[in-house]
Amino acid sequence: MKVIIAKDYEEMSAKAFEIMAGVVKSNPEAVLGLATGSTPIGLYKNMIADHKENGTSYKAIKTVNLDEYEGLDYSSDQSYVYFMRDNLFDHIDIDLANTNIENGKASDAEKECERYNALLETLQQDIQILGIGSNGHIAFNEPGTAFGSVTHVVQLAESTIKDNSRMFASIDEVPKRAFTMGLKNIMNAKKIVILANGANKAKAVYGLVKGEVTEQVPASILQLHPDCTVICDEAAAALIK
Ligand code: F6R
Repeated sequence: MKVIIAKDYEEMSAKAFEIMAGVVKSNPEAVLGLATGSTPIGLYKNMIADHKENGTSYKAIKTVNLDEYEGLDYSSDQSYVYFMRDNLFDHIDIDLANTNIENGKASDAEKECERYNALLETLQQDIQILGIGSNGHIAFNEPGTAFGSVTHVVQLAESTIKDNSRMFASIDEVPKRAFTMGLKNIMNAKKIVILANGANKAKAVYGLVKGEVTEQVPASILQLHPDCTVICDEAAAALIK
């Protein structure tokens, strides 16, 4: 596991972009595993600026997203499919048909998980971008999730509902359940870049980098990945220095 400590959010995002650009340039048909949340927005801004200034093309790129709230789809601006279009896809030349995310409105949740797992078998991520929850979750794999898990529906932890309520009008509007890639799907990526900024991530970053590898801290599984880079700002790195 490689750890890069950036001085601030801008530098963290720029360093993540360097790695992402390397993957896209070396393979214009790469599969990108993408995350939502506030952390990767700076990375996506760098990708958009580079596309506009340098013409980097995403026409043949494919994407797989980590997770989606149950009950939400593109008609809701809180859905992750909406987030991805708003923060990245609508600003680059990607073919939306090549972008993939769980269908939060699937009538049969179990079948939807099976569909997504089968899709992931055919679309191994050349790079997987991750954020980290303040409780150590990655995607929506909350503490206690089996390391061998694949795409499934989760009950969100109280702390996650509270953390994510900042995106909603009130905490009562935050969905209680979500679809998420499992830890095994994430570990299948060829390369992983996990980003963290802000003091509220410091404890989770400690667990990710220096803690015991345990299902109680889902991100700790990344210590076992052969090509994982952690990029965090000074505040998030407070406990690992
Ligand atoms: C988002 C995701 C989550 C977030 C995490 C951090 O697709 O899978 O694990 O990465 O909750 O969220 P932010 O970046 O908003 O602090």
